[in-house]
Amino acid sequence: MVNVDVHVNYVHAQWSSRWVFVLAATGSAVGLGNIWKFPYMVGQGGGGAFVLVYLICIVLIGIPIMMSEVLLGRRARRSPVNTMRLLAQDEGASPAWQFVGWLGMATGFLILSFYSVVAGWTLAYVFRTASGLFAMENPERIKALFGVFVTDPQQVLAWHTLFMMMTTIIVARGVRAGLERAVKFMMPVLFILLLALVFYSMGSGGFDAGFEFLFHTDFNKLTPAVILGAMGQAFFSLSLGMGAILIYGSYLPQQSSIAGSTFMIVIADTVIALLAGLAVFPIVFANGLEPGAGPALIFETLPIAFGQMPGGLFWGTLFFVLLVFAAWTSAISLIEPAVAWLTETRGLGRVISAVLTGGLAWLLGILTIMSFSDWAFSFRFLGVEKTNGFFDIFDLLTTNITLPLGGILIALFAGWKIQRDHSREELTLRSHAGFEMWLFLTRFVSPVLVGVLLFYLLFGHYFNA
Ligand code: PFF
Repeated sequence: MVNVDVHVNYVHAQWSSRWVFVLAATGSAVGLGNIWKFPYMVGQGGGGAFVLVYLICIVLIGIPIMMSEVLLGRRARRSPVNTMRLLAQDEGASPAWQFVGWLGMATGFLILSFYSVVAGWTLAYVFRTASGLFAMENPERIKALFGVFVTDPQQVLAWHTLFMMMTTIIVARGVRAGLERAVKFMMPVLFILLLALVFYSMGSGGFDAGFEFLFHTDFNKLTPAVILGAMGQAFFSLSLGMGAILIYGSYLPQQSSIAGSTFMIVIADTVIALLAGLAVFPIVFANGLEPGAGPALIFETLPIAFGQMPGGLFWGTLFFVLLVFAAWTSAISLIEPAVAWLTETRGLGRVISAVLTGGLAWLLGILTIMSFSDWAFSFRFLGVEKTNGFFDIFDLLTTNITLPLGGILIALFAGWKIQRDHSREELTLRSHAGFEMWLFLTRFVSPVLVGVLLFYLLFGHYFNA
């Protein structure tokens, strides 16, 4: 292969084993998207209808695109921009494909900017829970406490800054040192705690209503906004469409199975999202809260549970600590594509690259912070009222547009531009049918499904007029 634009001193890293890759990619996938976003999207999207579309998207779009990202990354062993350039060159395709890498980097900045703000809320909630603030409080007051907190820009800025520093430090050190070990311990504990929360919810008196809300599909609720939201959430939750999984795949040892790893990551991510739903909604219904509360949802419901539970101070604090960890392991993957590109192409050190990228995302984050107070403005999106200005714009732009767009392009490239022999060799699928299935989903099913939805998003108003 030809070297494209790689700095002379550059050596591309590799995970110590396939398991580390699975762990890191699961760390990227499992995050605020599962525990904070999924429940509130389900709440706003009318419950079961959203969940059904989400699950369909995971299978038909998420799995083939995740395999494609890993395949491309491992084949080229470069940052997303250079992976696309190099493979396009090798396969005789247009160099314009590198656009996918640039789009992905821009998307990463936008997501990290609001992600870090919400992770900052989570950090604050570690201390607020530990201080006993929520013990025996009534739901109304717990709700009000969150309202006061998010509308105080200075406080939120401090937490956002702290979280961004944590993220930058890890990225600067390289992913291997420290984080790998932490994740290995943290992820299983988070899972067990979620199970414990689900048990608590079962006794809260709202379990039947919560379960029904989550799994009963009311087809009347399947509006275009819900379908698009569910598809976007599948991309967001699996970290797909922006090169995060691609760059992690580029550190994957050669002989590791791509399909097997993908299944594990996808199953872990899906199970954790559903558990979060099962933990949150019973509490919502048992306490007469609003399932459509939006981004505030878990910060209003979970403190109620912890405030009443025996040992809630301890468990609640631990829960938010773990959520911070889940967010942390996702945040690093949001800027890794940009950091890898800077080190690989510009020859910058990891420290400088991490500070530059983290700093930019930090700055953008201020727009999100202000969206919950002084700079809040509203607009309508597909008939739904959005009230948190820049936060909503960044979220909708990435979740509903740039991630799916990046995903289609990745699927088209992997499916049509990479020669069959090459993709077969890279995927090393034992069964022939398995490979054909991947190819069919990647070539036709996922680009068409995502394409139709994006087309509707951009031009749908002409049909409705
Ligand atoms: N998948 C992460 C979550 O669910 O919290 C968010 C995320 C990380 C999205 C990395 C995209 C990404 F590239």
